[in-house]
Amino acid sequence: MKIAVIGATGTIGKAVAGLLSNRRHDVISVSRSTRPGVNIDDPASIDAFYSALDEVDALVCAAGSAAFGHLSDLTDEQVRLGIDSKLMGQVNLVRKGMAALRPGGVFVLTGGMLAYSPWPGTAAVALVNAGLEGFVRAAALDLEQGRRIVVVHPPLVAETAAAMGMDPAPWPAASAVAEAYLIALEGKLTGKPVFVAGYGPT
Ligand SMILES: NC(=O)c1ccc[n+]([C@@H]2O[C@H](COP(=O)([O-])OP(=O)(O)OC[C@H]3O[C@@H](n4cnc5c(N)ncnc54)[C@H](OP(=O)(O)O)[C@@H]3O)[C@@H](O)[C@H]2O)c1
Repeated sequence: MKIAVIGATGTIGKAVAGLLSNRRHDVISVSRSTRPGVNIDDPASIDAFYSALDEVDALVCAAGSAAFGHLSDLTDEQVRLGIDSKLMGQVNLVRKGMAALRPGGVFVLTGGMLAYSPWPGTAAVALVNAGLEGFVRAAALDLEQGRRIVVVHPPLVAETAAAMGMDPAPWPAASAVAEAYLIALEGKLTGKPVFVAGYGPT
């Protein structure tokens, strides 16, 4: 499959792009600093990205920002960040990208397990992850000619935990998280969340 991976230089995206390349998929690595590139926060940048992209069999997004913070401390800007970037960035990638996705193709978006298992200080992130799942469930009904859409909900990734000074031991490596994206891409699911093996809702 010819697969565009947005966020391909990041912790999750790099592992996904690597796994897909190993499986002999034709990967187009995309970020704000590649050519073609995209800033998913900016609808005009998404339009320009699709103008420069040939048709693909799949589009994976492992990019988008959202802010952590206790409910009583969150600023308007922090709440808006998740909505404008991680939520609307991915919604707009789908809305604007339907013509770029071949029949039978698949959009794979990224949410997060905080939609199911929140911690204190994660409300602005959890709302975005849950919103993405609702979007995917309904958007699947509007896609035609066998096109699919799913959202992967990664848990905290070991590499990210380590970078935050937390114990990485309870969490899966990015390479294990990437397997969930492979299942999403090569399977038949649509309108559904996809979980990392061993880290789904209990
Ligand atoms: N890591 C975790 O533990 C974890 C857990 C659950 C969910 N998630 C979600 O997974 C996604 C990826 O997380 P990550 O930790 O892999 O992120 P990351 O390591 O910070 O990497 C982000 C990637 O996306 C690109 N990017 C950032 N902003 C972008 C934008 N506005 N438009 C296009 N590309 C952009 C970055 O490259 P450039 O800066 O060059 O553009 C980079 O390639 C996020 O939505 C995050 O919420 C992560």
